[in-house]
Amino acid sequence: MLGAEKNFNGRTALITGASSGIGAETAVLFGSQGAHTLVHYGQNLKGASAVVEKIRDAGGSASLVSADLSTVSGIKHFAETIQALKNPVDILVNNAGSLIQRKPFLEISEHLWSEVFTLNLTSAFLISQTVLPSMVERRLGWIVNVSSVAARFGGDLGAIAYSSAKAALSTTTKGLAREFGPMGIHINAVSPGTIDTNYHKKFSKPEALAAVVAATPMERLGTSADISEVIGFLCSEGARFVHGQIIEVNGGFLMV
Ligand SMILES: NC(=O)c1ccc[n+]([C@@H]2O[C@H](COP(=O)([O-])OP(=O)(O)OC[C@H]3O[C@@H](n4cnc5c(N)ncnc54)[C@H](OP(=O)(O)O)[C@@H]3O)[C@@H](O)[C@H]2O)c1
Repeated sequence: MLGAEKNFNGRTALITGASSGIGAETAVLFGSQGAHTLVHYGQNLKGASAVVEKIRDAGGSASLVSADLSTVSGIKHFAETIQALKNPVDILVNNAGSLIQRKPFLEISEHLWSEVFTLNLTSAFLISQTVLPSMVERRLGWIVNVSSVAARFGGDLGAIAYSSAKAALSTTTKGLAREFGPMGIHINAVSPGTIDTNYHKKFSKPEALAAVVAATPMERLGTSADISEVIGFLCSEGARFVHGQIIEVNGGFLMV
């Protein structure tokens, strides 16, 4: 984590999927650097509560928000909750996402395809649509979407819906950056390589992870902090002229 500076004092940050992994680390970063942090979770209340506690222990302020982002009704309900907040969101990190199930292409049902797209793409669309009007009114805001290296190469076997949704999220990022840059909103994406989180406990075999390490010049998997620190940077003054970019963070596994 970055130092103890209060870089985000007075800001409100909403981090989706903050109950574990990259989102949890990102929430702790913003929360411990002064932002009032909304820690979103889907099912893992225990993980999200631990994140809130960590932020409060660091002297910060945080609250829990929950929603299932794999259904449009769940996202819309979440959007209403965000709209009802006293303080508008200044920093949005669209991080919640998942492969949901690894499936060969011929076995992907329409339901699974649409669920994966809803979680990884539509949630970012609708949540961004919810927070942007106030950002525009105030000419102030940062959005970081969490894409994936899979968007660049099609993903490992069984991940076509996921990699396609992430590719669309990267493109959405660029379109949003064009439209909202002139209104003072900073919009980028971070594209993690293989990061050692629950995601891979669920979806990847140890041999596959070992093969990634072997193909990575930095000779290791990424950590959640490797990603959260880049997200923090993208929302900082130092990144004031970084806009509409998909920042690859993968230890050199894929160089674009
Ligand atoms: N790990 C990697 O190698 C890697 C690589 C590239 C991109 N990414 C992306 O990074 C992001 C974070 O993943 P991670 O690796 O940190 O995995 P993780 O530890 O499994 O975290 C995923 C987060 O997303 C939330 N989430 C999943 N399904 C949800 C649903 N239906 N509704 C609401 N929230 C839901 C989870 O919340 P609950 O558990 O509380 O439901 C959790 O907080 C994801 O978008 C992922 O696609 C990860």
